[in-house]
Parts: sequence; structure tokens; C-alpha cells
Amino acid sequence: MDKIKLPTQRFEGIPTSGGIRDIVDIADRLEATGRTIYHLEIGRPDFDSPKTAKDAAKKAIDDGFVHYADMRGVLELRQALSRKLKRENGMDVSPENITVTVGAQAALTASMMTLLNEGDDVIVPVPCFGAYPGACTILGANMLSVRCKMEDGFILRARDVEPLVTDRTRMIVINSPNNPTGAVIPRSEMEGLAEIARKHDLLVVSDECYERFLYGGTHVSIASLPGMSDRTVTVGSASKTYSMTGWRLGYMVTPPWMTSYANRTHLLMTTCAATFPQYGYAAALDGAEGDVKIMIEEYRERRDLVAGYLRQMKPLDFANPEGAFYILISAARTGMDATEFCRYILEEAGVALVPGEAFSYPGFVRMAYCKPKDYLSAAMESMKSAVAKLA
Ligand SMILES: Cc1ncc(COP(=O)(O)O)c(C=O)c1O
Repeated sequence: MDKIKLPTQRFEGIPTSGGIRDIVDIADRLEATGRTIYHLEIGRPDFDSPKTAKDAAKKAIDDGFVHYADMRGVLELRQALSRKLKRENGMDVSPENITVTVGAQAALTASMMTLLNEGDDVIVPVPCFGAYPGACTILGANMLSVRCKMEDGFILRARDVEPLVTDRTRMIVINSPNNPTGAVIPRSEMEGLAEIARKHDLLVVSDECYERFLYGGTHVSIASLPGMSDRTVTVGSASKTYSMTGWRLGYMVTPPWMTSYANRTHLLMTTCAATFPQYGYAAALDGAEGDVKIMIEEYRERRDLVAGYLRQMKPLDFANPEGAFYILISAARTGMDATEFCRYILEEAGVALVPGEAFSYPGFVRMAYCKPKDYLSAAMESMKSAVAKLA
């Protein structure tokens, strides 16, 4: 009887929430007692979605776009994405090779499901977003981690990748700007990674969800480099760029040889992304640049505010992030491990952070600064007092 109550054997390897649950439980408990809790654990932008997007989606409902869409996504959206990829990413992509997905999350899973065989090696820089180890595990692929070091700004170095390549290696996953470090891979390293991929005939999945949130450095899409478009899946999303996390829209750009396979995988997973929101995303791509610029400037100010406070907290170390909206912090000099530190800061300061286990990088904690500046100032004042007590 009990044997029906088991998930697939592979499920055992699916990473758990890495201590996030514990932190959320404690935060909920404290909040229920009336304590003020500063939620810096969640990477959810706090801006409203652009009006342009909302108006277009409402109109699409009224115009009757309430049925299944083309499984690849609404053509107008794929055309708008094709224009955006040319304008911003230097990529020449036909709408035929763009699939609209249920967020970048579905694009990542669909592309890895389409490309990975059991036993394949996948090189994944850590710290990393949990979707990559999760997909490797459920697909029976082996994740080989490359550690990006805080002393080096958490930047992925091509020279650290090449020694891991063997005959079993099939794919490299990259994510720039990075969640959870905010690191941006410079062009020289991107070129080095492209050279490795070409030399060893490897695929690349490039997660570019945070591409617009840059406070230094420039964004380079690896698929735009010579010889890379035929071996790269570029993944993007409406979630962060337009603060549209709840619309669940992303996309994957696939090499032409891969498109029909990827479409079949995404079809199997979801049939297609919801139809009327896709008209909103298309409108945002063509008409919400002003909203994006405001968000970028606001995030830059928030980054400076939070980093300024952290510099005053002597036992903490971090690398100043150049992108996204996260800071990864080392609490090693406090003498606590990362989970103990998260608990202490939550109980003492009411600030919720995420332990690095969630990003395959124990020993560190992630702070998300996608909250208004006055909220962040109050949180950081409280954290500063709690950290001072550790001296
Ligand atoms: C690096 C990275 N990739 C993908 C995603 C998934 O985003 P979406 O909302 O588009 O599914 C996230 C979400 O936090 C992320 O941080």
C-alpha cells in the first residue's frame, strides 16, 4: 500500500528549499505576535506592472483573446521579442525560433528537458538559482559546480570552467546578471566561455532574466557572439524587467534545429502560456521603456543605500553587486554559520534573509533589496544594531 505514496526515485535529489522554509516559519510566527518583520528574503519586484501592459491585456480580453494561443506564443509578441532581441541583444532571431513560455522558469525546464540525457554533465556556476540543480536532478544529469568567489566579485571565470570539461559534458548554464550575487559576467569572460563551448562542442543555456538591471558593466548575450547562436538557448522574462511576475510570461530563443523539439516539450508541460497577458507583454516591449528606466534608477539607489549600510557592519563581507537586485553576504567573521546568522538577524532585528543553501552556496546569506528606500533604511538600521551587538 505504502509504495503508491512515493514520488519518483529522482525526487529524492530535488533540492529542498534550503532553509528558506524555516526562516519563513519563524518570520510568520514573529509577525503573528505583532513584531515588525522586514521581508528582504523574496526576489519579487515591488513596482506595479506598466499601465501600457495592463491596458493592452484588458483590451485583449475585451477583444475576445480568451482561447488557446499558438503553442509557440502569440505572433505579435514573438515579433516584438524579435525586435527587442535585435535592438538590445544584438541577436538576429526570427519569431519562428522564439517560444513564449510560462515564465523563464518553464523556459529553463523545457530547454533542459529537451537537451539533457541521463548521465550528461552540466557545468553550473555557483551560487545559482535553484531551477538549475532542480532540473539536473529530475532529469538524471550531473551538475558540476564551479565556485564563483566573493573576493573576485562572484564573477564566473572561463579559466575555472575549462578544467571541468570531459567527454560527458553537454551543457554550461550561465546567469548574468546573477541571482543571488548580482555579478555581471564581463565581455572578456563571456568570450572565453563561448570559446570553450565552441572548442568542446557544448550547449549553453543563458538565463538573462535580469539583463536590464545593470549598475555597472554591460550585458552581453552569449548567443550574439560568433558561432554561438546554434548552440545557445537564451532565456528571458517579463517578470523582472516589467515587474510582471504574476503574469507568468517568459521566452526561450532556440537554435533553429532545436525549436520544434523545444516546442513539443513546452506543449507537454503547459500547452501554451495564457493568451491575453501576451498582448500586454507585447505592448510593454514596445511602449514601457520609461517605466523600466525608472525602475533601474530606483534599484541603483536602493543598491547604494543597502551597500552603504552593510559597509558599516564590520563583521560582514560582500561584493558590491553590479546588477539584479540582490546582495550575497558572508557572515563568516561573526563566528556563526549562515543559518544561525539568518535566525539571529530575524529574531533580533526582524530582518528576513535567505541562507545560501538555497543557492547551492552554504555559508552565505542573500538579501533582496526590491523594497522602497524608507523600508530598506528601517530594515538596515535594525540590522545594524543587531550586528553591533555581536562585536
Ligand atoms: C535567475 C532566475 N531565473 C529565472 C527565474 C524565474 O523567473 P520567472 O518569473 O520568469 O519564471 C528567476 C526568478 O526569480 C530567477 O531569479
